[in-house]
Amino acid sequence: MGKRTERLDGRDEGHIARAAAILRSGGLVVFPTETVYGLGANALDAEAARSIFAAKGRPQDNPLIAHVARAALARTVAREVPPAAKLLFEAFAPGPLTIVLPRGPKLPDEVTAGLDTVGVRVPAHPVARALLEAAGIPVVAPSANVSGRPSPTNFAMALEAMDGRADAVIDGGECEHGLESTVVALVPGEARILRPGAVTAEMLRRALDSGGPSISALDVVDASGHSEKPASPGMKYAHYKPSAEVYLAGRADPTGVAALFPGKRVGAISMRGESSGGEIVAEGGALVLLVADEAEYARRLYRAFSLMDARGAELIVCGMPSRAGIGEALLNRLEKASAGKRI
Ligand code: TXA
Ligand code: MG
Repeated sequence: MGKRTERLDGRDEGHIARAAAILRSGGLVVFPTETVYGLGANALDAEAARSIFAAKGRPQDNPLIAHVARAALARTVAREVPPAAKLLFEAFAPGPLTIVLPRGPKLPDEVTAGLDTVGVRVPAHPVARALLEAAGIPVVAPSANVSGRPSPTNFAMALEAMDGRADAVIDGGECEHGLESTVVALVPGEARILRPGAVTAEMLRRALDSGGPSISALDVVDASGHSEKPASPGMKYAHYKPSAEVYLAGRADPTGVAALFPGKRVGAISMRGESSGGEIVAEGGALVLLVADEAEYARRLYRAFSLMDARGAELIVCGMPSRAGIGEALLNRLEKASAGKRI
């Protein structure tokens, strides 16, 4: 803590070179990806990986995912890339998918938390790609939030979370998807979705050969908002929580619920079909974000949590999305943020 954190501009080549040099010398760099901002370090440097856990307050048994510039570089961190993984990289790299592969010999134990596997991802954001190319090393990066909190999806949130904790934060604007990548593990005959994301089960099914592995979703959340059998070490921890209490509404439009909480400052996210363009508007005594569809809901969710927290919301009631497309991932995050609390 107490680091002097450099502010860098992702559009400036000199700044990318500076960030790459920090990573190569063992420092921590926050960088944008198309999902959320990541807190990056050299994947092959045990000391650097350890400093990620300290900066985030992250439990030691939660492994880090390794980011590489191109799928062809997966072998720098993984022992092998089985045929099904190759198909998935061809279909979704670069993109919001993390594939769990057998761990390579050069990875320190700190990265994998002692597992014999490693999650590998090729991010699509141009700043992430430029940084990985310039650094010339694989980069481990968890989401750049303090453990348990929502992931940052823009520069201001990333800076707020990691100022004084990272050596640099790169500005790459707003993240396209707004929710963390799909994590998939390939076991014989089966592709297991350990965390749902923008790459859906349906998309995975289409990309894998017919007669290939069946798809199963493992991050099943029980009524209390906890994973029943955490398939991925990270899924057993509290996640994505703003300071306000989060409730999941039984309908798409929970505006009007403020009346149920007299004297409380209430936030609401409504899917009634119009968009407030990311603005938090005042409606019926509540702070309201209006989103047009699941994709906009996903993209703006964590930022809305952060803005509503900043404006003193004591509780946030979230409209119910459908499970279509990224809706499945959105619902997963809402279930966890609300710890199963419903209205
Ligand atoms: O979109 C993303 O994936 C972002 C950006 C920065 O790339 N990163 C991210 O990392 O969300 P993190 O550490 O916040 O979440 C990674 C998840 C955790 O739940 C972790 O437990 C799981 O992936 N994971 C990592 N390695 C794994 C492994 N070898 N086996 C099973 N789960 C793993
Ligand atoms: Mg995370």
